[in-house]
Amino acid sequence: MKMMSSMNLRLSGNLEEDTTEFFTTLEYSDIAEHSKQVARTAVELAIRFGVDAEQARMAGFLHDVGRMIPDDQKVEVCRQANISVLPEEIEYVGILHQKLAPVIAREMFGCNDEDVMRAIECHTTLKAEATDLEKVCYLADKLSWPASESSFHDAVEHALNTSLNAAVLCYVGWCLASKPKVVHPWLREAFESLKG
Ligand SMILES: [Fe+2]
Ligand SMILES: [Fe+2]
Repeated sequence: MKMMSSMNLRLSGNLEEDTTEFFTTLEYSDIAEHSKQVARTAVELAIRFGVDAEQARMAGFLHDVGRMIPDDQKVEVCRQANISVLPEEIEYVGILHQKLAPVIAREMFGCNDEDVMRAIECHTTLKAEATDLEKVCYLADKLSWPASESSFHDAVEHALNTSLNAAVLCYVGWCLASKPKVVHPWLREAFESLKG
């Protein structure tokens, strides 16, 4: 976290402005834009499915802050923060950005909303027995990728007409069917839990 603490980020208290400055200072303006889009989509889904829109908005802006820890430092930073690292996360280290997000959200942005922390912590893989806020954050991230590059997009949007759960199950099912090289156990557990 040395790189982070030396940033001298001056917080305005406006999460959109603060996360935008954070990402652009580190030369990731694309992630700043992505995060704004995720926050917008998360608020839309939250309103649609009766989830707290402010928590959804916060989760959208903060979900990818862990990406600012370089891959070759992620495991070490997790160890320093007493975050357990699974074998699948050693194999695909980039995925650890979800577990690192709450650490940065707390240390850099003063976030102390534990529901938001838990949502950003599983925004890549989801997890078993996820809350609606966690599902909203998870789906908002996936739906914010360009529709033209996301073959699941139309199916997930269609499933949203049924329910939030149907849409999440649709996306998780699509993920597992695409046979990724590494299947994170939280994703498999999310699938089992959603199937009921
Ligand atoms: Fe992410
Ligand atoms: Fe993201």
